[in-house]
Amino acid sequence: MDGPAAAGKTTTSLRLAERFGFSYLESGRAYRVLAYEALRSDIEPDDPSAMIELCARMVRNNLSVLLGLDRYDTGELRSAEVGRAVSLVARISELRLRVTNCLRAWAKGNSRSIVEGRDIGTVVFPAAPLKFYLTAKPETRAARRVAQENSGSYKQVLDDVLRRDHADMTRSVSPLKPAPDAIIIDTTDLTVDQVIDRMSAHCREAGLVEA
Ligand code: CDP
Repeated sequence: MDGPAAAGKTTTSLRLAERFGFSYLESGRAYRVLAYEALRSDIEPDDPSAMIELCARMVRNNLSVLLGLDRYDTGELRSAEVGRAVSLVARISELRLRVTNCLRAWAKGNSRSIVEGRDIGTVVFPAAPLKFYLTAKPETRAARRVAQENSGSYKQVLDDVLRRDHADMTRSVSPLKPAPDAIIIDTTDLTVDQVIDRMSAHCREAGLVEA
C-alpha cells in the first residue's frame, strides 16, 4: 500500500488487515524512528555516514525497535520536528537499502501481510501479488489529518503535506510513484467503507479469503 502523506493508508490498511487476517507494518515508522533518534543524539539527519552508523547500531540491537514496533509512542514520532527531519533521512540511499532489508526480514516471518509506505510496490516488494496506490487531493488529506490527529492548524498541516509530497516525489532514490501494476484509488470523494469495499473486492478476485 503506497501513497502520499495522509492519503488514508494506515486506516484502510488496518481495516483490511483485520478483515483478511493479515499482519500489518507501517514502514514510515522506521524512517521516523531514525529521524527521532538522530534528533535525540545530535546527529544531523542529512549526514549519510552518521545516519548509516545509527541505523546499523539499531539493527544490531533490536529489529523491532528500529521498525517502531515497540518503545515509541505515535505522538513523539509524529512531531513537526520529526516530520521535517524524516524527509532528509529518507533521501539517503544506503540507509533506504538497510531499512528495505529490515522490512524484508520482517516479511519473512509474516508472509500474509500488508505493508504501507512510499516504495513498497516499486522497490521493497516488487513481486507483491496485490498493490494499491492510495491518493486524494492535498486539501482533503490535510483536512482529514487535522480531524484525526489534532496536530496543528489546517494551514500548517497542508503546508507539511505539500512539502512532503514534493520531497517524496522528487527525490532521486525510490521516489514516490505508483508501481506499473498498482491499483490506483483516489479517495477524495470516497468514504473509508467505500475504499475498503473496493479493496476487498480486489483481494477476493486475487483469491484471498476473508478471515
Ligand atoms: O503517515 P504519513 O503519510 O504522514 O507518513 P509516514 O508513512 O509516517 O512516512 C513519513 C516519511 O517517511 C515520508 O514522508 C517519507 O519521506 C518516508 N518514507 C519513505 O521514504 N519510504 C517509505 N516506505 C515510508 C516512508
